[in-house]
Amino acid sequence: MKKILLSGIQPTGAPHIGNYFGMMKQVVAAQDEYEVYGMIVNYHALTTVQNKKELEENTRNVALDFLAIGVDPEKMVLFKQSDVPEHTELTWIFNCLVTMPWLSRAHAFKDKSENGIEASVGLFDYPVLMAADILLYDTQVVPVGEDQRQHVEMAREIARKFNTNYGETFVEPKEVIKEDVGTVPGTDGRKMSKSYKNTIPLFGTDEEITKAVMGIVTDSGSDVPMNVYAIHKLFKSEAELVPIYDEHKGKYKALKDALLADILAFVTPLRERRAYYESKPELVAEILTKGAAQAKGKAEAKMKVVRERVGL
Ligand code: ADP
Ligand code: TRP
Repeated sequence: MKKILLSGIQPTGAPHIGNYFGMMKQVVAAQDEYEVYGMIVNYHALTTVQNKKELEENTRNVALDFLAIGVDPEKMVLFKQSDVPEHTELTWIFNCLVTMPWLSRAHAFKDKSENGIEASVGLFDYPVLMAADILLYDTQVVPVGEDQRQHVEMAREIARKFNTNYGETFVEPKEVIKEDVGTVPGTDGRKMSKSYKNTIPLFGTDEEITKAVMGIVTDSGSDVPMNVYAIHKLFKSEAELVPIYDEHKGKYKALKDALLADILAFVTPLRERRAYYESKPELVAEILTKGAAQAKGKAEAKMKVVRERVGL
């Protein structure tokens, strides 16, 4: 029996290289060895995107990006969260088990409220929906970036709480966070994030990628521009980088050019596959429909057990 691996990404904008190295690459790399579920979490995205066109377009783009980086629909399940409404049903059941003070500890909500921004009920409940995503599939392994560690821990706690109250039902999942890519830095040295506008988009145009790379903040005075190097390390080994950084000591423009060339060399073959899928919208729709049916089959069976255990 294969182990079950699941992860998700919000369709809130164009995936960036932090998403790629931190999560998407791990999901695709696991498709031979694990039973893999890759989910486009559009219910979660509603906490930030409240425009139909934008949400639909982002969703389509995330699907294309996933296919471009090597998802094989014969091997893994790629699906949209909203195609499996059981996720929201299970969220409600979990909502009634967890307390408000416990949920107030979650980062996303805490950060917003500390900055004086009013959080929606959906944002407050975000970690519970994520727990439902994970637990519905008896997921054992959840590859994510460091920022999601707490959410997977919370999913584990919810599983434990349900199991204690209603009897053994859910598997306790474990996060997998790769040390070297757990927090990919952005062009300003902070964590790369759509919300910081410091990203290098994975499938940006040449111009967009060039602009992002040339905009990397450099700290004058040192021979090695650390922010450039930290991103470069994702594309070349340190052994390969040493001679380049030796040759261009202190020449930030030349080093940025070298990084840019490596990013473009990496992304060019993937763009071809992306263009292929982009030209075949029916095929993409078919892949997502098939993924939805596979995910729904599993989720429905699990919910049958859950309803019975709960007394519904
Ligand atoms: P963002 O923070 O840009 O909005 P998401 O919340 O959609 O990105 O994240 C999707 C996945 O990518 C999550 O598993 C998250 O941990 C991972 N991820 C996001 N940013 C980074 C980063 N800078 N480094 C590593 N992983 C990241
Ligand atoms: N919260 C995750 C993020 O912002 C996305 C997500 C939703 C997820 N459900 C999930 C990740 C289940 C892993 C497993 O990145």
